[in-house]
Formats: sequence, C-alpha cells, structure tokens
Amino acid sequence: MLSIGNLTFASPLVLAPMSGISDLPFRLINRSFGCGLAFTEMICARSLSHKSKNSLKRLSTTTDDKPLGVQVLGDDPDVLKRALDILSKYPFDIIDFNAACPANKVVSGGRGSGLLREPVRLQGILEVIVKYTGLPVTVKIRSGWDETSVNAAEIALRAQDAGVKGLFIHGRTRMQGYSGSVDYNLIREIKTALKIPVIAGGDALSPVLIRKIFDETGCDGVTVARGALGNPWIFRQTAEYLKSGVVPPGPDVNEIARIMKKHLASNIAFYGEETGVILFRKFFGWYTKGMAVKDLKARAFLASTGDEMVRLIEGLEEIT
Ligand SMILES: Cc1cc2nc3c(=O)[nH]c(=O)nc-3n(C[C@H](O)[C@H](O)[C@H](O)COP(=O)(O)O)c2cc1C
Repeated sequence: MLSIGNLTFASPLVLAPMSGISDLPFRLINRSFGCGLAFTEMICARSLSHKSKNSLKRLSTTTDDKPLGVQVLGDDPDVLKRALDILSKYPFDIIDFNAACPANKVVSGGRGSGLLREPVRLQGILEVIVKYTGLPVTVKIRSGWDETSVNAAEIALRAQDAGVKGLFIHGRTRMQGYSGSVDYNLIREIKTALKIPVIAGGDALSPVLIRKIFDETGCDGVTVARGALGNPWIFRQTAEYLKSGVVPPGPDVNEIARIMKKHLASNIAFYGEETGVILFRKFFGWYTKGMAVKDLKARAFLASTGDEMVRLIEGLEEIT
C-alpha cells in the first residue's frame, strides 16, 4: 500500500508528470484504468507567480481528478512562496518539487536537475516549501548530474531531513536524458536508507518491466510515464499482473478506438476544437503504435476538426 504523509492510495502505480502531456484529459483517461495518483505537468513557479494564462490552465482540475499532485519548478524561495500562495487556492493533495528536469534552458538557470549539483541549496529550498505549505511535499530527483557525480543517496537523505514526505526518483543521471540503463540498485540502496516512501521510475514501459522495478528496488510505488502514452490500459494490466502473475491481453482495436474518441472529446471540451484536435494529433500516433496504418497517421497529423479526427479513428476499425 502506497502512502505519502496522511494520504493512502488505492494503487501504487502513479502517473508521472509529463510536460506538454499530463493535462486534465490525459489524467482522467489514465485514472479510468486505475492509476492511484497523478501529477500535473511541471509548472514554472515564476510564470505562475505572474499568473500566466498557460500556467493557470495547467492547474485546471475536477472532482474526479483525485488524488492529484501539482509539480512545481523553481529555485527562488520568494518566487516559490508566491506560487504556493496561488496553489493553495486549488484542491491539490501534494506539492511535488522538480529537481529532475534535464532540459538545457531549465538546468542553465540552476533549476530542475541543475539543483542536484547543489545539495545544500536544494535542501534549503525544500525546507522553505515544507514550512510554507500545509500539504505533504515530495521531491522528484534523478540519480545525479552525470556518472561521475551520482549523489541521489545524499540528496534523498537531505530531502527527508527537510521534511519531505516522499521521494520520486528516475534512476538515470541528467546527462543520460531518457536513454541508457536505469540504476535500480541505487534506488534499492536509497529505499533501504530512507524512512519516507520511495517511488521509483525509469523504463516502466510494460507490466513485466514495472514488476521488475518493484522486485529490484523494493520501492513503495512506481511512476509510469512514456509507458502510458496512448496506453492507459497499462495501469489495469499491471495491477492484474501484480496480482495474478499473468499479463492479461491488450485491448482490441475497437476498444482502442473507443478510448481515442473519449480522449478526443475530452480534449475538445477542455481546450476548444482547434487546440483540442491539434493536441490530440500526437496521441493518434501513440494509440496506433505498432498498427500498420501509416496513411491514417499521416492524415491525423493534418486533421483540424473533431469530425475529421473521428473519421480517421473510425478508419482504424475498418482496416484492422
Ligand atoms: C515528454 C516527457 C515530458 C516529461 N515531463 C516531465 C515533467 O514535467 N516533470 C517531471 O518530473 N518529469 C518529466 N518527465 C520525466 C518522466 O516523469 C519520467 O521520470 C521519465 O520519463 C522516466 O520514466 P519512463 O522511462 O517510464 O518514461 C517527462 C518525460 C517525458 C517523456
């Protein structure tokens, strides 16, 4: 059973924050297949403190969208406090601090995984957040900056000392980005050393790989990121696999088309037709991964109305 602070979740499978992806429609689709906790995409504290329209849109949530963590990116304690003031008006359950993002423009400003190079400063920032908010605070880290400076164990202990209630760790260094092997041994060492829950991530791409993460790290939960792109069924399949030891069959094309239509409708309701359809284009590609539908995919990348996109989805049912 995964618990963070005074919260207990129905499943230890967590939908990871993904920038440009983890919006309300995406979260609701994944929740309908049993993810136990979800996060907003990362929100820049400075943009939020200026009440930028984009940041505020990313805070949108509904009563079905629970339990929900909001992920904050930043490094200036005063700016973070202003952002937390705004966040306190929303029904979030967890404040997660991002010390993991590898993007150049983020780390060059000393934020995201750039903070892994400054453990003392990171601890200080976490202390400020913990003191300032009444919600449980978690932190997302990577294994270190590069292979010569793997310091997640030190960072994890500092985070725990700062009063953080849960540690999310992607077991790759900043320099690895999203490729190369994930260091599950390191996560196991950290899990053994900490009192707070450790939620592991990195290559949670299938039920079998997720079970491997639980087995190899002894972690309390697993975050699923890329494995959930166009594949919300991963949550239900993994839960069944963890229980029975048998991976249930994947969805057939009719079920995939049903969920695609639901996701598209939810996107259009949330963003309006133009943006909702544009943002759905990449999901068309993910939902149809592995299907021999090159032509439909190419047309989906040009579709601009909801009707057009629905016709392409229905085309999947006819072809396969
Ligand atoms: C497109 C994309 C966007 C991401 N955005 C975020 C983010 O906003 N915050 C964050 O902490 N991690 C972000 N991540 C990292 C994931 O949460 C996760 O830690 C990483 O993808 C490793 O898990 P996986 O190998 O199962 O995909 C992102 C990953 C991807 C692929």
